Amino acid sequence: MSRALEEGRRALADAVRPVSLSGAGLSAESGIATFRNPRTGLWTRFDPQVLASPEGFAADPDTVIGWYDERRRQLSQTEPNAAHQALAVKTDMVHITQNVDDLLERAGATNVVRLHGSLLADRCHGGCGFAADVDLANPPGRWTCPHCGAAMRPGVVWFGEVLPPEAWATAEQTAHEADVLLVVGTSAVVYPAAALIPLARSRGARVIVVNTEPTDASDLADVELIGRAGEIVPRLLG
Ligand code: OAD
Repeated sequence: MSRALEEGRRALADAVRPVSLSGAGLSAESGIATFRNPRTGLWTRFDPQVLASPEGFAADPDTVIGWYDERRRQLSQTEPNAAHQALAVKTDMVHITQNVDDLLERAGATNVVRLHGSLLADRCHGGCGFAADVDLANPPGRWTCPHCGAAMRPGVVWFGEVLPPEAWATAEQTAHEADVLLVVGTSAVVYPAAALIPLARSRGARVIVVNTEPTDASDLADVELIGRAGEIVPRLLG
């Protein structure tokens, strides 16, 4: 075992308030595309301003809803991978995630803080507060809010929108209190999520980064492990 892996293992074993911060790379080995991979990334194949913004939704709701429903059907056919499973087994860990899939929960994780919402629910775009679970395998398509008649939309955060205030407050507090922050599969370029890494570090947390390549989090890492989450995370936590 490499010295860095051993160092990370020890830090996590000794942690009193361990926290994970994950991104799309955590679910990549389950077959879900990441956002910024230059060949397969969603944002290199699709324009985020069209598919993931209030303006895009207003301009072409059919395309936006169709794209999310396709991702939902895809998610219904995927399974948690070894990294999700290993994280879920660590029951004292808080899992802050940017992912909108439910693979951590399906692996058994209970303490999940969702910064960017979830594909598993629709909510009223008019802001009346109505929300409803959706069946991933049979997503609803376009529909209107039964309470106020506004359009329903995926329960995710779009560009230009604020993060769910409660989730963000919990994430900030959790990062503040963490003694080890395990950063898995994120490019760490999207804020405010990425700000949790320097925040935790400034409060004394040791930062362990797992990624297939160096990222914006590399300079903040006490331990950096380059490789696939499905291989490294189980070894860190096993
Ligand atoms: P990105 O696509 O920006 O980054 C994914 C990261 O995962 C990259 O750094 C990859 O190197 C790494 N990676 C890929 N496969 C991996 C593997 N098997 N093991 C470990 N690492 C791997 O995705 P995010 O950082 O999650 O926001 O992006 C953040 C946000 O940007 C998303 O939540 C989404 C997007 O726009 C919204 O939609 C609001």
